[in-house]
Amino acid sequence: KPAVRLALLGCGTVGTEVVRLLHEQAEDLTARIGAPLELVGIAVRRPGRQRGGAIDPALFTTDALGLVKRDDVDVVIEVVGGIDPARSWLIEALSAGKSVVTANKALLAEDGATLHDAAAEGNADLYFEAAVAGAIPLLRPLRESLHGDRVTRVTGIVNGTTNFILSSMDATGAGFGEALDEATELGYAEADPTADVEGFDAAAKAAILASLAFHTRVTAADVFREGMTGVTAADVASAKEMGCTIKLLCIAQRGPDSTGNESVSVRVHPAMIPRSHPLASVGDAFNAVFVEAEAAGQLMFYGRGAGGTPTASAVLGDIVAAARNRLSGTRAPSESSYAHLPIRPIGEA
Ligand code: NDP
Ligand code: HSE
Repeated sequence: KPAVRLALLGCGTVGTEVVRLLHEQAEDLTARIGAPLELVGIAVRRPGRQRGGAIDPALFTTDALGLVKRDDVDVVIEVVGGIDPARSWLIEALSAGKSVVTANKALLAEDGATLHDAAAEGNADLYFEAAVAGAIPLLRPLRESLHGDRVTRVTGIVNGTTNFILSSMDATGAGFGEALDEATELGYAEADPTADVEGFDAAAKAAILASLAFHTRVTAADVFREGMTGVTAADVASAKEMGCTIKLLCIAQRGPDSTGNESVSVRVHPAMIPRSHPLASVGDAFNAVFVEAEAAGQLMFYGRGAGGTPTASAVLGDIVAAARNRLSGTRAPSESSYAHLPIRPIGEA
């Protein structure tokens, strides 16, 4: 079979690992997909930058839009981040019928509707497993396996950087700045770590999770958000004395409001939890998410939520799905059948 041709937008922490895995696992991937994957171009800002590993310099371009528009590209992989210009690249790709794989939770939470609409218009598929909780297979279960059930609540730790900082403060008494520098060094933090520590990243992920879990459109603006910059060493020590620890939690639930109407509420904030609670032992940059569904009961998803290699694992899974679906003419699940439940402001019963 002819190769499935890939365009990569971004080659930083995540993108570099995507290229490495594509290269190292080329033979296995070809066998699994039934056709080879061919990387035809990589868009970056600084093509001359040292990126570790041997990547053919001829692949680099600064013209991301030009790369997306190439007729010979089947799948566009976006690991740049931010709202614009990523949004315009992905709309262009989807409208032209190309499959898109993205890790861009900020964009999905801000304007996922536009991307889903472009996908519907272009008869194209949008994959975004890497956007929430890094390596943990979480969105596919919500998008597919649990579709026959009714999810009532999603709770968890969905930001690796802040979990790394809070865990370090708790375990070693490390200072906030020192722990943040380490998280950045390890490739966990966003390009602007304010997104992590002020809870914007967790709020974006909470919006995506709530949208999928409750089949309704929830955007980042719908999420009550409080970051963890106000948590001091003294707060962590006091929590410890009380047999507790502090975690940045995301809580999304659906249920009847005070007037009996079904609605959704989503929030992100630091919370003190007893050390006996399963989330208390989630350390480092790990993530853990509980999903409660009427028939399934409680499910727990746990694993590496940040970092280049774990995130690249999720991106590769989506690339394989996109390639297979293109070859077989099968469509990925779409988010076109949302129920549009009302969003309940936090503080309202
Ligand atoms: P990086 O900052 O490490 O990499 C960003 C890449 O995008 C760089 O290669 C950069 O080029 C390129 N880039 C930036 N602007 C442009 C532009 N205008 N045109 C072309 N290329 C551009 O980010 P990450 O790899 O950490 O993250 C990428 C995405 O993945 C983000 O959406 C992030 O939220 C998401 N994500 C990240 C995770 C992580 O643990 N790091 C986990 C899950 C998701 P250059 O190298 O030349 O500067
Ligand atoms: N900055 C994010 C985090 C990356 O720390 O969780 C993974 O989405």
